[in-house]
Amino acid sequence: MCGIVGYIGARRAEDVLLDGLRRLEYRGYDSAGKATVQGEAIHVVKTPGKVVHLTEALARTPAPGSVGIAHTRWATHGEPNQANAHPHLDCRGELAIVHNGIIENYDRLKRGLIERGHAFRSDTDTEVVAHLIEEYAAKLPLEEAFLAALRDVVGTFGIAVVSRREPRKLYAARRGSPLVVGVGVNGEYFLGSDPAALIPYTRDVVYLGDDEAVVLTDEGMETFSFDRTRIQKQREQINWTVDEIERGRFPHFMLKEMTEQPSVIVNSTRGRLDVDNGLAKLGGLKDVDDRLRKIERLSLVACGSAYLAAMVGEYMLEEYAEIPTETELGSEYRYRKPILDPGREAVIAVSQSGETADTLGALREAKEKGALTLGIVNAVGSTITRETDAGVYLHAGPEIAVASTKGFVGQLSVFALLTVLLGRQRRMSQATGSRIAAELAALPAKIERILAQSDRIKALAKKYANAQSMLYLGRKYNAPVALEGALKLKEIAYIHAEGYAAGEMKHGPIALLDPSFPVLAIATKDSIYEKVKSNLEEAKARRAPVIALTNEGNDELVRIADDVIFVPRTIEMLAPILNVIPLQLFAYHMAVARGYDPDKPRNLAKSVTVE
Ligand code: G6P
Repeated sequence: MCGIVGYIGARRAEDVLLDGLRRLEYRGYDSAGKATVQGEAIHVVKTPGKVVHLTEALARTPAPGSVGIAHTRWATHGEPNQANAHPHLDCRGELAIVHNGIIENYDRLKRGLIERGHAFRSDTDTEVVAHLIEEYAAKLPLEEAFLAALRDVVGTFGIAVVSRREPRKLYAARRGSPLVVGVGVNGEYFLGSDPAALIPYTRDVVYLGDDEAVVLTDEGMETFSFDRTRIQKQREQINWTVDEIERGRFPHFMLKEMTEQPSVIVNSTRGRLDVDNGLAKLGGLKDVDDRLRKIERLSLVACGSAYLAAMVGEYMLEEYAEIPTETELGSEYRYRKPILDPGREAVIAVSQSGETADTLGALREAKEKGALTLGIVNAVGSTITRETDAGVYLHAGPEIAVASTKGFVGQLSVFALLTVLLGRQRRMSQATGSRIAAELAALPAKIERILAQSDRIKALAKKYANAQSMLYLGRKYNAPVALEGALKLKEIAYIHAEGYAAGEMKHGPIALLDPSFPVLAIATKDSIYEKVKSNLEEAKARRAPVIALTNEGNDELVRIADDVIFVPRTIEMLAPILNVIPLQLFAYHMAVARGYDPDKPRNLAKSVTVE
């Protein structure tokens, strides 16, 4: 999704901006641009396509200046061409603006501006803000004009502005779209929509809150609300290493992140598991402990892979914590007028990035209705973590590849911890708590055994790389895993894939099966194994090629299936953590075999901060 970078200081702004944009590439985008200011001139360069194209363009026409803003755009209004790329200028080219988010009332604003003589050069919603500021700036100082324009805007934004009228100032503001200021040494400042853009330069950051604006100058930074009330902000420290967001020896971030999954379990459970007493300790929930004990209902809200992780969580929480739980898509929940029982219900937002607009919308809906709100989030300091009453971090480290892998596994690990915590507050025995805790602790070594099969799965992917469609089956805890496997294949290998709860196969998808339609069935030895095995036989009877995922030592499926992937055994509720890994590897190798870049799938964004 769109990315913003800004800089004011003594360095060549262009270098910092390009470097920052490269670090934000993982978010997904389709054009890029920058504006630098020096003296009376603003230099704007924009290109459709990748940051490398912008870099080439800048090499041909380097621009001076040590103040600037830059942007990667993921098209919402208007196609991804040069005119629509950011930055956008006002009529006289006095100011340049970059924007993440959506200006919902842009149409009405634009009509008014056109009537009053403004000339537009793009189809974007963003450009209206440039003209609005211009209009106010005819009568007001730029700072006031900037805030006045923001007050007119309905929608979401992370915005940054530079102007040749005030060449040593950088303005920024946020409503619903993240922005962070990096405080450098020697009075320089960095701006980013994601801390990843700032990390090589500084670890001292200030996160802007909603409806907060900042002015960065050589003298310092000032933050205030849109009505110009000064706000005192806390500085925070980022503790990721640059290494953690770099690819290292791996050809793709996705492979790196899948390989990190044993340590995701270690890190997400560190200090949180008490195997002997069968307990889970979650420091982030301590303050709401009393309220949690009274909870009689849980709603989990999420999108994409996080939604599927939450579906697994629902199975865990209902079976072991005995709390009625519903999983809901953020995009549906926020508008469907959910009925909440404030005193007795908690709503948990599950999100790797902590910035997904629909999940955030659902969370705000729940908050408004008075529910206890919690977050299961990876990105430290993200919006969801700041808007929930309490929460649990995944501690999975930054996830760069667009398709979530270690984030998903980290979410499942946290759901297991939460299940033990809430279960033990209720009727779960110490023995059950200890068993889950001990099995969780044993998972990293088991994940290593699956990762060691990467080459075998790669060979399998080569065999199936020309498939047009695939059906993924799983049941109970593994039904959402089947959906996740199919989602991964769609996202990065661009193969049509259906994920189905295996019991539903006979109610529809079986009609599709023939020798060209492979079926991947998760048939690990659990309470429902025999049923899935029957589905597998049914698929085979329709001459569909069958890939079975089962446990080491279970050789009976070798007879039925064309190919078998073996995974170690664990308890049923934790099996998704192991079973999803071969499916991730399979999708990854399919994408590579088909010649695609799995890290940056077309049309997708890492962090979807618009509706
Ligand atoms: C996007 C990503 C998915 C991710 C989903 C939810 O669609 O491409 O990989 O699962 O957003 O993201 P979140 O950050 O809220 O977990």
